Amino acid sequence: MLFPDYRGRRMRQNKAFRRMVRETKLSTDDLILPLFTVDGKNVKNPIPSMPGQYQLSIDNLVKTSQTAYDLGIPAVILFGLPDKKDALGTRAYAKNGIVQRAVKAVKEKLPDLAVITDVCLCQYTDHGHCGIIDGHVVDNDASLDLLARTALSHARAGADMVAPSDMMDGRIAEIRNALDEKDFSHVPIMAYAAKYCSAYYGPFREAADSAPQFGDRRTYQMDPANALEAIREVTMDAEEGADIIMVKPALAYLDVICRVRDEVDLPVAAYNVSGEYAMIKAAEKMGWLDGKKVMMETLTAIKRAGADLILTYFALEAARELNS
Ligand code: PBG
Ligand code: ZN
Repeated sequence: MLFPDYRGRRMRQNKAFRRMVRETKLSTDDLILPLFTVDGKNVKNPIPSMPGQYQLSIDNLVKTSQTAYDLGIPAVILFGLPDKKDALGTRAYAKNGIVQRAVKAVKEKLPDLAVITDVCLCQYTDHGHCGIIDGHVVDNDASLDLLARTALSHARAGADMVAPSDMMDGRIAEIRNALDEKDFSHVPIMAYAAKYCSAYYGPFREAADSAPQFGDRRTYQMDPANALEAIREVTMDAEEGADIIMVKPALAYLDVICRVRDEVDLPVAAYNVSGEYAMIKAAEKMGWLDGKKVMMETLTAIKRAGADLILTYFALEAARELNS
């Protein structure tokens, strides 16, 4: 169809028409709120590079989870900061670890809020890597058992879903087996399947105190230049039993989200990561752009690219906007 037979502006001329032909609709149903939890009482430590985000003691974590639930957000994902770290990340799979206690507290108060746990070792190891190390090499196969133990301990504490973010090979199968063996076959796995080695995680590592103490994560997280490899990673995790597939980060990887969406028939999640949040907040603070509008445009774009679910620090703000 060519002009003047086709006039794109006809269906843009008023709000009602625009609503009728809108292709992508963001909903509170799509949002997952990441939260950081620490020991203590009435702790609410602001995270400087992520305005509006905090390290929360469990009492405050429950309060924020309540706010999320009241706004219609279906799920939160928890990250823990342990009281101590060691080479084997033992506090990650301790029965009374920070995440295990946090899950219990949130589920007790809010049984209908889905509580997802991030499964990784980097916050818990003194070297800050996502697996255990042999010399200066992250030992893939030796890490699998500890990751599976971590996932299992989260399930035992009442986690509704576990989300391994370590990028070791074979961890989805290992975790699936461990859960199934102990009667947690009903607990789904959201796999950080295509997780890139990204500088956009900077603010998170400050928030979670999880920066590697030597080297970087390039030997396990993906090279930002690769998209076909994302298909291999996603396919592998799907075959190993993942229930939801994640692409991370989101904004610089919208093409990957789009390709993954075409490739698998599982729900696709995208992680709108800390650096993406920080950039918008910083520019807003400078008065350089309208933070709220850019937030909604960004989340809509991630959905339009093919994400069914979005993990985002904007979840509370976006839900308020969607409910208004
Ligand atoms: C740890 C983990 C990271 C994020 C989620 N889980 C950081 C990393 O891999 O260094 C990033 C989240 C964000 O930046 O918002 N495995
Ligand atoms: Zn990690």
